[in-house]
Amino acid sequence: MSEAYPVIAIDGPSGSGKGTVARRVAHSLGFHWLDSGALYRLVGLAGAQAGLAPGAPQHAQVAATMAIRFGVGAKGQEQVFLADREVSEQIRTEEVGNLASQVASDPQVRAALTERQRAFVQSPGLVADGRDMGTVLFPGAQLKIFLTASAEARALRRYNQLKDKGLDVNLVGLSQEIAERDERDATRAVAPLVAAADAISIDSTTLTAEEVITRVLTLARTHLTDR
Ligand code: DC
Repeated sequence: MSEAYPVIAIDGPSGSGKGTVARRVAHSLGFHWLDSGALYRLVGLAGAQAGLAPGAPQHAQVAATMAIRFGVGAKGQEQVFLADREVSEQIRTEEVGNLASQVASDPQVRAALTERQRAFVQSPGLVADGRDMGTVLFPGAQLKIFLTASAEARALRRYNQLKDKGLDVNLVGLSQEIAERDERDATRAVAPLVAAADAISIDSTTLTAEEVITRVLTLARTHLTDR
């Protein structure tokens, strides 16, 4: 089933660069952008703020009712608000990433976020990034990309990103956390991280973000006009 407007789905593991690629491809095409990982991070953060234990079943209620908003800052950066308070930086910590990965394995949380994610399909089109965009959320997407990179390259990228933000990080600890999170995301019963059968795989280990963006835009030109 095709969507009302064109959708480009970009899935892949943490640190594969899908967020940067999705944001810039969306900007280039003038499309909307759905950062679905941010929604799971928001559920993890909102749950912790409400005093819930990591992964507690009440997170489904949080996912259904949390008041969230996305915006664009003065420098073009993503802004994320929870109950009108900006939490853009807070949701990027490894602590919140781990809470997100735990709530993401709860089918009720995933179900509660389904409609919220589908509401992002708006004119003139959407670029959606996550783990199950091409397999579960938007199976009719015109273009599906599965973006990978070696575990070492992904850990190093995350390390540099967090360090640039002035956060105190340790590369060995980060590599372990990424491996654990990959394992949990790939083996969970509901919507595990797998490439859709019709996804085009891009390995970004030795590519710059610029090179990946150029490839995706080239693919978009053919796939979106084929409709
Ligand atoms: O992409 P990210 O690191 O911001 O995602 C945070 C967590 O959310 C990640 O561990 C997996 C989960 N997630 C998911 O299960 N499905 C998505 N579509 C996006 C993220």
